[in-house]
Amino acid sequence: MLAQGGIAAVRLPEDSVDYHVRDTLMAGDGHNDPVLVNEILAEGSALINQLASEGFPFDRDAQQRISLGLEGAHSFNRIFHAGGDATGRILMEYLLDRTSGRASIIEHATVLQLIVEEGRCTGVLALQEGQLTEFRADAVVIASGGCGSLYAHHTGDSSITGDGLMLAYEAGAELCDLEFMQFHPTMLVKNGTTYGLISEAVRGEGGVLRNEQGLRIMEGKHPLGDLAPRDVVARAIHEQMQNGHDVHLDIRGCKHFSERFPTITGILEKAGIHWTDGKIPVVPGMHFMMGGIKVDGSGSSRLPGLYAIGEAACTGLHGANRLASNSLLEALVLGRRAAQHSFQYVMRQHSRTQMETADPKLLDTPPSANRAFFEVPQVTLAELQQQMSLHASIVRHAQGLRQLAQWLRNLKTDPVPLSQLTREQAELSHLWKLAQLVVTSAQLRTESRGAHYRADYPVPLDSQWSGRTITHTNTAAP
Ligand code: SIN
Repeated sequence: MLAQGGIAAVRLPEDSVDYHVRDTLMAGDGHNDPVLVNEILAEGSALINQLASEGFPFDRDAQQRISLGLEGAHSFNRIFHAGGDATGRILMEYLLDRTSGRASIIEHATVLQLIVEEGRCTGVLALQEGQLTEFRADAVVIASGGCGSLYAHHTGDSSITGDGLMLAYEAGAELCDLEFMQFHPTMLVKNGTTYGLISEAVRGEGGVLRNEQGLRIMEGKHPLGDLAPRDVVARAIHEQMQNGHDVHLDIRGCKHFSERFPTITGILEKAGIHWTDGKIPVVPGMHFMMGGIKVDGSGSSRLPGLYAIGEAACTGLHGANRLASNSLLEALVLGRRAAQHSFQYVMRQHSRTQMETADPKLLDTPPSANRAFFEVPQVTLAELQQQMSLHASIVRHAQGLRQLAQWLRNLKTDPVPLSQLTREQAELSHLWKLAQLVVTSAQLRTESRGAHYRADYPVPLDSQWSGRTITHTNTAAP
């Protein structure tokens, strides 16, 4: 819903899926699954161009040609956008409109547990209006986003608290690549308040990063300068800040700023920033988790009947650092693939169930929704965010990670029965558990790759780490 920049897909005649693949692999720093990258990008380009021809309102120029933006680490203009910088919202509205009347949507229910029976996922247990309620399902698809709320400043909604990841983990699915957290270089934070994202598309339209002395901070840092991969730009800003500098986006080179970026203009005005002076103060903020629930190219997790798509999933497309605007593309492709695959899965289950109804024993199996309480840590969300931001964000090192691991482990907890749990307590419990897995991953990967930067191991160690994925499995799962 909040995605600004857009959706990356090949359209220009001089561009090709091969170039898009090359850029994705370069940004991903050798940690992507190349086969899947090829498949998803080829399918994605066809899908986006199909969306455009069936009438999706992508922005167009005066000649009615689709306006394609440029973002970091892309070799060509290939960012489809809508409403200037409101692509996510317009896409959501478009898709919701098309499912209207064909899907029921239940809002404000907090899922506390996945139901696992006979080794497959058969529904969810949720807290709805103070009542524990079971929602049975033939298959379950997690599309809950990542875990931005682990950090003090993030570009997502405050409801993004890692719940989908932890529900899947507790039920027996695997989590992987949790050490790779993408920090977006440019978000607007004023007096400690997070106002939102300043899209990379602003740099694509001519915005440049300067410090308070007017020096271009990306000069000499990377051949792509201000449009280098996000991890490189975020680290450069972080370094400036560590050295006591302030960084701003100089937008004097962006034409028709408020027309091209109406959402961002609104954010700036809300924050009281005089953007017409040409300066937007920026800091990096947690933006996207490359890791997540380990799934294959159909969105299937290790647990039959459980799928994951979008940021909650880890397909191997993004590697160690996601290329800009590949996330909505992946969400669309995997969304369609998971729908197709789960449909086949459900058909198979139904024929199996018909056979099984002959055996009364199988009908008696109780749901394995058997966790009686949540361990809720005695800590505030702000304290957790502060510790994660200090020791497990853009630059990490062994000592800080060790200190953080110890702090997390030593937090006292209260056992809260499911029926008495609040949404906030469930979220805090999930974030705390996820934080421990993230920190373990960051401790284990003794190299720097993509968004995972270790000051004590500042380069990629291919001989030791190339092609290796850190995976977490809950051995206590049913
Ligand atoms: C942005 O608009 O800068 C974000 C796009 C993305 O994360 O891919």
